[in-house]
Amino acid sequence: MIVHPTIAGLREALAAQPRIAFVPTMGNLHEGHVALMRIAREHAPCVVASVFVNRLQFGPNEDFDRYPRTFEEDCEKMREAGVDLVFAPGEREFYPAPQSCFVQPHPAQADILEGAFRPGFFRGVATVVTKLFNIVRPQVAVFGKKDYQQLMIVRNLTRELALPIEIVAGETVRAADGLALSSRNRYLSAGERLQAPQLVRLLREMRTEILSGAGDYPRMEREALENLTAQGWQPDYIAVRKRLDLQSPAAHDSSLVILAAARLGPTRLIDNLEV
Ligand code: PAF
Repeated sequence: MIVHPTIAGLREALAAQPRIAFVPTMGNLHEGHVALMRIAREHAPCVVASVFVNRLQFGPNEDFDRYPRTFEEDCEKMREAGVDLVFAPGEREFYPAPQSCFVQPHPAQADILEGAFRPGFFRGVATVVTKLFNIVRPQVAVFGKKDYQQLMIVRNLTRELALPIEIVAGETVRAADGLALSSRNRYLSAGERLQAPQLVRLLREMRTEILSGAGDYPRMEREALENLTAQGWQPDYIAVRKRLDLQSPAAHDSSLVILAAARLGPTRLIDNLEV
């Protein structure tokens, strides 16, 4: 496995590769990322992963400086996962001048759910992903369903900008008690870690209710918010949406997903479950 800190070096190394599968990350890797890299392995003989903490997707009150940087451990995991090349640029290499050109997804996609609580987040994600795609030029890119809205936005931008890249989705990897793996889980205290699976349990209860015919989604969302709040969480949203565009479903719509974000102590967790 070779690490490339520069765009020119990576491009040169990839020039002769006929087929590349790509997994973009911000590092601090866990089994969820490793699973995406294994999927990438199935799609191409050359697997590239990137490790870059993207300043553009952090809000002014978010933890860009505190975001965990664990490059040595990340390299171990990527090696074991069969990654061939790692693109790990420094800030100056990736953004030599402040970025003045952005990829802005439509507000109907970018300003709902996560975007409503993290203004500018999806503009930052769409911009960095497009730039990474231009640098790596993969045939396949793998994204986790854990970040469901990000996956939808990346799918849309790839299609609408006619990028010749197949977007492959990886299932969310969960701990034995159901908690979705996330870099943020490391911020949970021991007590909070025990409590954290309440979020997915609630999503599972909602899914059971929907599958048994319940269709009053606003009532279900309201009750779920009250339930979480009563257990000491500070929920941002719990929403039943259509999988395709994450808009609110009508009564007859199928192919749904339930998405949630909530704070447990200082840690903000997100999760979702397809119905
Ligand atoms: O999902 C992530 O880790 C990031 O949003 C991504 C796609 C690597 C862009 O910085």
